[in-house]
Amino acid sequence: MSVDTYKKTAKDFTFPPNLDDYDAARREFTWSRARKELDWFGGHLNAAYNAVDRHTQTWRKNKVALYWEDEAGNEKKYTFEELSLLSNQIGNILKDFGVARGDRVFLFLPRIPELFFGFLGILKIGAIAGTLFSAFQEQALADRLGNSEAKVVITTRELKLRIDKVRKKLPNLKHILVVDEPSFIKSLAHASTELRIAHMDPDDYAFMLYTSGTTGKPKGVMHVHRAILQEHMTAKWALDLRDDDTYWCTADPGWVTGIAYEILGSWSNGVAAFVYAGRFDPKKWYSLLAKYKITVWYTAPTAIRMLMAAGGTLVKTFDLSHLRHLCSVGEPLNPEAIKWSIKVFGRPFHDTWWQTETGAICIANYPCMDIKIGSMGKPIPGLTADIVDDAGQPLGVKKEGNIAMKPKWPSQMHTIWRRPAKFKSYFMNGWYISGDRGWKDEDGYFWFIGRADDVIKTSGERVGPFEVESALVAHPKVVEAGVIGKPDVMRGEIVKAFVVLEPNTKPSEALKKELSEYVKKHLAGHAYPREIEFIDKLPKTRSGKIMRRILKAKEMGLPVGDTSTLEEY
Ligand code: WTA
Repeated sequence: MSVDTYKKTAKDFTFPPNLDDYDAARREFTWSRARKELDWFGGHLNAAYNAVDRHTQTWRKNKVALYWEDEAGNEKKYTFEELSLLSNQIGNILKDFGVARGDRVFLFLPRIPELFFGFLGILKIGAIAGTLFSAFQEQALADRLGNSEAKVVITTRELKLRIDKVRKKLPNLKHILVVDEPSFIKSLAHASTELRIAHMDPDDYAFMLYTSGTTGKPKGVMHVHRAILQEHMTAKWALDLRDDDTYWCTADPGWVTGIAYEILGSWSNGVAAFVYAGRFDPKKWYSLLAKYKITVWYTAPTAIRMLMAAGGTLVKTFDLSHLRHLCSVGEPLNPEAIKWSIKVFGRPFHDTWWQTETGAICIANYPCMDIKIGSMGKPIPGLTADIVDDAGQPLGVKKEGNIAMKPKWPSQMHTIWRRPAKFKSYFMNGWYISGDRGWKDEDGYFWFIGRADDVIKTSGERVGPFEVESALVAHPKVVEAGVIGKPDVMRGEIVKAFVVLEPNTKPSEALKKELSEYVKKHLAGHAYPREIEFIDKLPKTRSGKIMRRILKAKEMGLPVGDTSTLEEY
């Protein structure tokens, strides 16, 4: 196979990169030596303190940490000191409501500043922060808030209406704080800015994220305060953040990228971050890159492909000469997208690979390294990654297998909330098995092939087929549903549902629309099926499990493979 390589030359570097010799770092780096990158309280630490407060003891105190703008053009900015004080105030308010160490406090907010200092405030008092993507609807909220037994939710007036619908099902939810209610605004203004930051054991929980697998309800992936060590180092190595950067991570803190690289790892490096609280729009995005003179940009392949589709003329009307480093995450970064970025920005996107469960970047293309276009790059220093077979045996080069890592890296999830058996199932023969398939080449570059399971990645967002199937089945006209990710040139995959209707229901285009809307309204705005097909019967195993693999093969016109365990097909 011929591979295009983007060779780095002097013109690729505005500055020498933070990681200037990958091979030497692989040989010499140890996590214990990297401890000094953080501020510790003896053997304790607090991830939020390391992200923000420690900078207030330095010249960065009055440096802008957050530039913020919304769709209407409202602008705000906050220094590190302001973020520190505001998060102290939120911490104090939560304490007044009886929130103690280990309690779960969820943020159900759009990307407004309160989301950022709220997150920090929760961690600072030793509580566990959870984030909920603002597209979630009642079912998704009930599942996550119910399973986590959240005590407090911080939200807005508009989003609260969705929680109200399921409040009865949430006996542990004691308080809902509404950030745009006058009473909250007043109590925030009056809250003390002084707070004793909780000194946490590095293995104490800091935040949790619900993520989807193939089966069952979403699971609560638990991350600890220590995770910030790897988030900090990878923000330095892979994102190459420096003090004079203005950095834009386009992710939402409802997902892991927004937590690790829009709050913790990025601010820990003292960088000025820009956050846009608006929807994707090519012209708007280019104008923001230009206006804020963004230097480092971390985004996702779907957004890049959508920018590509918007054409080359538009981009030329903006001065984007400040961009110096581009990174991507969340789904396969196709070679065309990299080639396009070289053409229009004069720089390649650097792919990074990781997962909610890994807590931070694990495999990446670094500024100092040539890019084999289409490859995800190489494992970070301090982490052993390999390709292993289904029994956990390393396979060597150029063989397809499971992308696996040797536990334990600092940002590795600690458990799955209340599901220890599920947590255990990730590990085999001394390896963490990621659920992704790939291969590595003779130079140690990793290449992504696909998921080993039925998890859907649509526009970079992770969707569990079971959640969508359950939402569809709740509709009175639906008997059964099987949901798959259908390959899509723009979005990577789209959610496609195969639906079996009640015997007396007539299939129609209007009904397809109704079902899509139903999922959008009850489960989540981003997880609804963009395509629905009515079907008489779903392929199932003898034990009654839906064979999504067969639906997918059929959809793609591929051979259906081994059907010996099928009920009948
Ligand atoms: C996929 C997002 C190809 C993969 C940080 C993984 C990728 C899942 C890449 C995790 C990449 C992430 N190339 N696929 N560079 N990065 N993925 O938990 O399937 O939302 O298992 O975490 O996204 O998604 P999650």
